[in-house]
Amino acid sequence: MSEQLKPNNPPASTPPAPRSKVIAIVNQKGGVGKTTTAINLAAAIAIEGVPVLLLDVDPQANTTGGLGFPREEARLSVYDLLLGNATAREVILATDVPNLSLIPGTRNMIGANLELVGVERRESRLREALEPVRTEYPFILLDCPPALDLLTLNSLVAADTLLVPMQAEYFALEGISELMATLDSVAASFNPGLSLEGVLLTMFDDRTNLSQQVRDNLVGFFNERIFKTTIPRNIRLAEAPSHGKPVALYDPRSRGAEAYRNLALELLDRNGMKPAKKPGPAPTFPVLESMGESKGIWPFKR
Ligand SMILES: Nc1ncnc2c1ncn2[C@@H]1O[C@H](COP(=O)(O)OP(=O)(O)OP(=O)(O)O)[C@@H](O)[C@H]1O
Ligand SMILES: [Mg+2]
Repeated sequence: MSEQLKPNNPPASTPPAPRSKVIAIVNQKGGVGKTTTAINLAAAIAIEGVPVLLLDVDPQANTTGGLGFPREEARLSVYDLLLGNATAREVILATDVPNLSLIPGTRNMIGANLELVGVERRESRLREALEPVRTEYPFILLDCPPALDLLTLNSLVAADTLLVPMQAEYFALEGISELMATLDSVAASFNPGLSLEGVLLTMFDDRTNLSQQVRDNLVGFFNERIFKTTIPRNIRLAEAPSHGKPVALYDPRSRGAEAYRNLALELLDRNGMKPAKKPGPAPTFPVLESMGESKGIWPFKR
C-alpha cells in the first residue's frame, strides 16, 4: 500500500472483552462455611444488581439443595461439564434470586474423580468448559468439596482467585500452612495467575477473647488479605438452606443476611465495582485485567 492510501487514523483498537472473575471458595477442612458463603455471597452480589454464576463442585450438592433444587442425579450438572457431555450453557439453571444462575452438583460427581483419572488435561476440564460463558457474568463462584481431590484441582485451575473461609477457633491456624503450600504448588504447576482473594472468618463471635485472638493471629499472617467483614454465628444462616433459600430471601433482616451483604459490598469495592444504590441498570461490567491482577496477591511467594 502506498503512503497516500494508508488511513490517517488507524482504527481504534477494540477494548478487551470483559471477562468473569472466577473465585473458588476453598478449604480442605470440612464444615467451615464454604457452602454457606457460596450461596449467600453469590446471592448478595446478585441482589446488588451484579450477575453471578454459582457452580456446585461438591458431590454433597449442598449448594444445589440450599437453593431449592432437589439433589436428583438425572439433571445435567457439573459432572457433565467435567466429562464433556454438555456445554456450560446447557447446564445453567435460573434461580429464585434475580441475577443468580446455578450449575448444579450431583452425588455422581464422586465418580468423576475416578473417571477423569485417565482423561487428557483432566485438571483443566472445568476451566475450558467455563470459557464460553466468561463474557456473561462479572463473577463466577465455585463451591469446592472439603478435599484436595480432582474436583478441587479443577476448581483451582479454573479460578483467578481463592476465597478461604475459616472458622475462628483455636485450631484454625493448624492446617493453614498445609493448605497454602498445596495451593502454592497448584499455582506453580497449573495456574500461575492464581492469587488469594481473601480469608473470611466465619462463625465468628466477637464477644470472645478467643475469636479476637484468632483474628489477630490471622491478620498477622495474611495482612490485608483478611476480609474486614466477619460472619457471625447466626441460626438463620443454618436454617435457610432447609427452606431452599439464601438468607437474604429467608430473613433479610437477620445478622447473617447483613453480614453477607457487607461481604458482597466489600468484595465489589475491592474489585473496583460500585453497586447501583437504587434499582436500575447493572453496574458496569468489570474487565478482569483492570480489577483482578493488581488486587490479588499470593502471600507465599516471597
Ligand atoms: N455463620 C454461621 N452461623 C451458623 N451456622 C453456620 C454458619 N455457617 C455455617 N453454618 C452451619 O455449619 C454447617 C457447615 O457449614 P457449611 O456447609 O457452609 O460448611 P462447608 O465448609 O461447606 O462444609 P463441607 O466441608 O462439608 O462442604 C452447616 O450446618 C451450616 O448451616
Ligand atoms: Mg460445603
